[in-house]
Amino acid sequence: MTKGIVLAGGTGSRLSPVTRAVSKQLLPVYDKPMIYYPLTTLMLAGVHEILLISTPTDLPGFQRLLGDGSHLGLEISYAEQPRPNGLAEAFIIGADHVRGGPSALVLGDNIFHGPSFGSTLRRSVRRISSGETGCVLFGYPVRDPERYGVGEADADGRLISIEEKPERPRSDRAITGLYLYDEQVVDIAANITPSARGELEITDINRTYLDKGRAALQDLGRGFAWLDTGTHESLIDAGQYVRTLENRQGVRIACIEEVALRMSFIDAEQCRRLGEEQSGSGYGEYVVEVAARHSAGAEA
Ligand code: DAU
Repeated sequence: MTKGIVLAGGTGSRLSPVTRAVSKQLLPVYDKPMIYYPLTTLMLAGVHEILLISTPTDLPGFQRLLGDGSHLGLEISYAEQPRPNGLAEAFIIGADHVRGGPSALVLGDNIFHGPSFGSTLRRSVRRISSGETGCVLFGYPVRDPERYGVGEADADGRLISIEEKPERPRSDRAITGLYLYDEQVVDIAANITPSARGELEITDINRTYLDKGRAALQDLGRGFAWLDTGTHESLIDAGQYVRTLENRQGVRIACIEEVALRMSFIDAEQCRRLGEEQSGSGYGEYVVEVAARHSAGAEA
């Protein structure tokens, strides 16, 4: 069974003073906390044992929000990352959680939304569990690839180069903050050393898989949204995107209760209860409606 890690630490310094008292990943993206988006990404991949890593100061906020996850059919545990020593540290802190099987890491500030995302994720997870590849990364074309990890793939989707924030990017494919690995990731992470900027780089883990010819790049093509939340501008843009789609279509993006129901982690009755607990809000009413529609569909 694939285990998941959400990495939600860091200082959020670029969003100061907003992030002085509140973790960046708990800030609202329109109608729900940012962390709901990456959390539902893992859930859609079929992952329900999740380790949430954040700073000692911010962890209590996440624990208040999500508890042990059992109400959502999840098992959520928590671990501290005292300093932002790099994304790869997630697999040192989370070694016991993921050891011995495939795992998925998602950054707590990464928002994914697009058609068939759930099935793309589950297919990618199967590529790891079947041993077809050791690592699946998700590439997204951007105008400014130099701000990200940048990857290049051959015609078969095999990763052939990867660089962290290159001055001269070899492609426009940003590597998004969602990473799937086989069981070797724990040993690989334990052996990497800090980069020139002093961080344990996820790109170094990915390069190890690339060197073995065991890394795949899955393209999230046009029509897909991978949204940035790193600045005040991009955060409000992400909120507007969610607002526009939700108001137009009448469905909510990254509603954890709805995803738990769709993935059969909970039943309709539990979903209805969760909605009623939040009945003062439009969000809570939506969750109740989702449960009712699901029950009606099951009876039909
Ligand atoms: O978002 C995708 C990008 O994320 C990738 O394309 C890059 O390859 C990858 O290095 C990373 O780049 P960033 O410049 O966005 O990384 P940043 O240091 O801003 O960290 C991303 C998030 O992870 C941020 O919300 C803070 C959190 N974080 C970061 C570090 C370094 C942690 O929780 N712990 C950490 O140690």
